[in-house]
Amino acid sequence: MHLIGKKILIGITGSIAAYKIPFLIRLLVKEGAEVKVVMTPSSADFVTPLTISTLTHSPVLTIPFNSADGTWYSHIDWGNWADIYLIAPASANTLAKMANGLTDNLLTAIYLAARCPVFFAPAMDVDMFMHPATQANIARLQSFGNIQIAPQVGELASGLTGAGRLEEPEAMLQALIDYFSQSVTLQGTHVLITAGPTYEAIDPVRYIGNHSSGKMGFALAAEACRRGASVTLVTGPTALVTDHQGIERIDVITAGEMAKACNAHFDKADITIMAAAVADYRPVKSADQKIKKSENVLTIDLEPTIDILKDLGRRKTDQQILAGFALETQNEEQNALEKLGKKNLDLIILNSPTAQGTGFGYDTNKITIFLKTGKKLEFPLKSKQQAASDILDAIFSCVQK
Ligand code: CTP
Repeated sequence: MHLIGKKILIGITGSIAAYKIPFLIRLLVKEGAEVKVVMTPSSADFVTPLTISTLTHSPVLTIPFNSADGTWYSHIDWGNWADIYLIAPASANTLAKMANGLTDNLLTAIYLAARCPVFFAPAMDVDMFMHPATQANIARLQSFGNIQIAPQVGELASGLTGAGRLEEPEAMLQALIDYFSQSVTLQGTHVLITAGPTYEAIDPVRYIGNHSSGKMGFALAAEACRRGASVTLVTGPTALVTDHQGIERIDVITAGEMAKACNAHFDKADITIMAAAVADYRPVKSADQKIKKSENVLTIDLEPTIDILKDLGRRKTDQQILAGFALETQNEEQNALEKLGKKNLDLIILNSPTAQGTGFGYDTNKITIFLKTGKKLEFPLKSKQQAASDILDAIFSCVQK
């Protein structure tokens, strides 16, 4: 029994996949969890409250008020009761409401009030799932620290085939068990993470930058926080938001500013992960005024920026773990291993921007991790959230040594 005493609140929305939830409840109860369920009104068309109530031995809520006995059910209390709030199946409509803070039913009101970690398992037709609006909503929820249990690719109720099939109950159960077993592995540690690009000014309106979105660094920060670490996230310019209470966010623009912030926080960091795409060069001189156009060739002299990671590698003590990224378009493994040694790292994560679905801006990444012990860990294409989990597993294996 892996979930003894754990309180799991499940939110069921209107989707044909709701039929899987009674199976999930049985599995959770078998593992020792206490389960309560809140349902949207339309979900009762797919699975009955009576079935759910029988399996959970608890009343099922759909509206905040029981007109029979006058009881008011507080969304605040339910959110506070839960160790985890799992919204499954999560319809496109409910995902959109969650992403935008709408609370027109009890399930979404609890979502907004809940302090516990939130999981959501989308289930919908492939075109609805792939629609940019749904994908943007999912990305927004992930930026809040909510954890997606990604849908499977397969045959859908509509007869179409594609992504959108609710994950199987056994796999959802495993995701929750994994969560509880990992959630304390970084308790008491301080993790320093960098993310995003840096911008090096050419003049007051122009800069040298790169396409880094910051998504990988932010996913790492969220995952480290989820595992109990206190996190300092030093980020270059990005549109991403983070509202984790355990993350101290420091916004910087240039490589110089990033170096300063890293230097200030490095000594107290048990683990440092440099996921930022730091500019290697900056203009020797940034013009005071906007450079005017002319017919002549314009030459901008560039000088190297400080290699932050290399500097931290020199300072690192035996108690500290230092991880870097390598972005390579050729001789990938050889270059990554060279950086591992040259920068005195414990591990390096190789990103290949040329592989399908990886690199700047994507929500997925295909990584290979090289440990200084000589171990090589290769992973298939995964969400950046899952890649972050793999990276922290690898780091944790170094901590234990
Ligand atoms: N890095 C850094 N400071 C820099 C440049 C890079 O701290 N000025 C860090 C990155 O955050 C990353 C690692 O070094 O963790 C490798 O970055 P990458 O751009 O792949 O390699 P470089 O060392 O810049 O070498 P090259 O551009 O020649 O591949």
